[in-house]
Amino acid sequence: MPRQARPATRLAHAGGARGADGGIVPDIGLSTTFARNEDYSLPAGAQSYVRAGTGGWRNVEVLMADLEGGVDARLFASGLAASTVLFQALGPGDGVVVPDIMYHGLRDWLRDFCERWGLRCETYRAGDIESLVAAVKVRRTRLVWVETPANPTWDVTDIAAAADIAHRAGAWCAVDSTVATPILTRPLALGADFVVHSATKSLNGHSDVLAGIVVAGADGEYWNQVGELRTGNGAVAGAFESWLLLRGLRTLHLRVSRACENAARLAHFLDEHPKVRRVLYPGLETHPGHRVAAAQMHGGFGSMLSILVDGDADAARRVAGAARVFVPATSLGGVESLIEHRASVEGPNSPVPANLLRLSVGIEAIDDLVGDIDQALGAAGN
Ligand SMILES: Cc1ncc(COP(=O)(O)O)c(C=O)c1O
Repeated sequence: MPRQARPATRLAHAGGARGADGGIVPDIGLSTTFARNEDYSLPAGAQSYVRAGTGGWRNVEVLMADLEGGVDARLFASGLAASTVLFQALGPGDGVVVPDIMYHGLRDWLRDFCERWGLRCETYRAGDIESLVAAVKVRRTRLVWVETPANPTWDVTDIAAAADIAHRAGAWCAVDSTVATPILTRPLALGADFVVHSATKSLNGHSDVLAGIVVAGADGEYWNQVGELRTGNGAVAGAFESWLLLRGLRTLHLRVSRACENAARLAHFLDEHPKVRRVLYPGLETHPGHRVAAAQMHGGFGSMLSILVDGDADAARRVAGAARVFVPATSLGGVESLIEHRASVEGPNSPVPANLLRLSVGIEAIDDLVGDIDQALGAAGN
């Protein structure tokens, strides 16, 4: 693979990964254990046991480190495992600063973990840099967490500003860039130290793999600790999942570009719809994060948008139930479009408005998507 090859080329070639016999599709290594030499040494590059690493992970890690412009990457069993390890690598008394709007699974986990582990957790308003400045404590804060665009209101945080604030305080900045993908945003180039993805979403893109990845902008003691925790926690990706993920990544470029186009068309259509009170999509000029998104997202504003329907939670659930092309299901980033009533999924502690529906826009024909959401809004009789 020529060094100057562009992301679309690197992805289409799976980063140049090959099978042992030169096959242009890499092999799936299913072994969990590996034979030693006569002198009991391990063959060059081999691990003793699969929990410490396999070639299947490495293909994905090398490709993702390359796409994000990082020095190294580590694949995990899920996006949540990839996220939580960055907090577990800190010690009691360390400070972390996280947004109020973020993936709810991590927010719920942090609530419990910070108390048990003795981490001091401060919260800032997602997308609001002044509130981030107020939350960060010099020398005490060790990690600033950013999710942008953030679930499910798609607040946009200025990554360069957040990284600068973190660094001035002596902290690291980690960005959950699941929604942006490396096609639209490269957080490390904007100053972040770590990028996290739920690879379950757009990276794989086919709703059939659970995985997560962290890419590091530099290595060091903290990064080593992340690696040790992966092995120690056993939060490792399976061989088949790693292989499927590499296969999914080959079309990332095309899928993201088509899904972004579809999402933008839907957002504009819904923005004019009489049964929709508000559309939340960073690509709309009315979205509070539009200006920052336009500066740090390139080639689209993502495939995620939310709508506030006219009515209450029941009205919103009726719209989801009336959809015929959009599938009423959680998750995001697949080739098929999904619609979900977010407050039902997040549970009683959720700050999400009761009338919010989250749309994950896929790669279908746009007229089918527009027609379906229009009929669902009409059929729900709100
Ligand atoms: C933005 C974001 N980050 C992380 C996660 C967690 O990823 P996973 O489901 O792969 O554990 C999700 C899952 O929905 C997500 O939406």
